[in-house]
Amino acid sequence: MKALILVGGFGTRLRPLTLTLPKPLVEFCNKPMILHQIEGLVKVGVTDIVLAVNYRPEIMVSLLKKYEEKFNVKITFSVETEPLGTAGPLALARDILGKDISPFFVLNSDIICEFPFEQLRDFHNSHGNEGTIVVTKVEEPSKYGVIVNHLDSTCIQRFVEKPVEFVSNKINAGIYIFNPAILDRIELKPTSIEKEVFPKMATDSQLHAFELEGYWMDVGQPKDFLTGTCLYLSNLAKKQPNLLANSACDYVYGGNVLVDPTAKIGKDCRIGPNVTIGPNVIIGDGVRLQRCVILEGARVKDFAWVKNSIVGWHSILGRWTRLEGVSVLGDDVTVNDEIYVNGGCILPHKSISTNITEPQIIM
Ligand code: GDD
Ligand code: MG
Repeated sequence: MKALILVGGFGTRLRPLTLTLPKPLVEFCNKPMILHQIEGLVKVGVTDIVLAVNYRPEIMVSLLKKYEEKFNVKITFSVETEPLGTAGPLALARDILGKDISPFFVLNSDIICEFPFEQLRDFHNSHGNEGTIVVTKVEEPSKYGVIVNHLDSTCIQRFVEKPVEFVSNKINAGIYIFNPAILDRIELKPTSIEKEVFPKMATDSQLHAFELEGYWMDVGQPKDFLTGTCLYLSNLAKKQPNLLANSACDYVYGGNVLVDPTAKIGKDCRIGPNVTIGPNVIIGDGVRLQRCVILEGARVKDFAWVKNSIVGWHSILGRWTRLEGVSVLGDDVTVNDEIYVNGGCILPHKSISTNITEPQIIM
């Protein structure tokens, strides 16, 4: 089987992390976002993956070559010279996606769930129409694509991208499977699949909805990245608790703590719930971490207190620092001893020596 992952876009909403790495390579629960997807695709038997890229492909190539060997899958970069939106990349990759009559998967690169590829494929084959969209329910649908089904049917009647008025709380989860016939609807030019292709397919009764079970999140912005982390860790606690730090561990508090084996944790810490600690991280003594993400190589010194925040790669949090309010530190940021940061978005390589009491961007 074949798949295309929509990797493009500048990931501006996930800055400052995306100033250092393209969004799909930012580690979500200690694994590059895109690896969660590649593993799911490989498991269902996908052998051909197209990465639709329009932004710094060179950074991705070497890492993904490694995955090619590890998973025995062919990964092709399809590089746009201008952003082609969410449909144009399918036309650009026509040679691969349309090389045989089998259906192919398409994924947004910033979503996280228990990818139900096998059931999705079976459902898609059972209705025989051109496309299937995975749908989930959310409380605040206005920032997503919204779906309305025909009465008592999986067939989609309407698709409205980012509706201004309430239409439904059933939304597009950003996971699709299509027959190659969809390629006849898409020209090689910047096109939105959500605004220009799905509404027409709905009119032609060629689009069906597959309801997702379990958690789902678009982790393309810091607040949602943290919520997604909680959802992923809670699911891990149910399904593979052995991957989490043992709750008998003296520092684990409230569970759902994921620690890379190379990380070092000092004494008298209280960590959790909902914390991920990346490779080579060093946590000092008496540190309190809750609902936060500590990325590779970061150092959190003694008695620091971190809540609801993301600490970027190789950043250093001084002693007695306090970080909260969805603060995000970019790569290699230093926060001096005893500093308070509330909702700070701090660009890479900065050094912070005065308190940040209100949400702001530090450039
Ligand atoms: N190759 C390529 N080229 N990829 C692109 C481009 C482009 O020009 N523009 C966006 N993408 C990729 C993004 O990297 C992302 O993986 C995906 O397309 C969707 O773009 P987002 O910018 O993340 O869109 P969104 O989150 O506002 O909305 C989309 O996702 C929602 C679910 O999270 C839509 O598909 C909504 O309908 C959906 O509900
Ligand atoms: Mg998104």
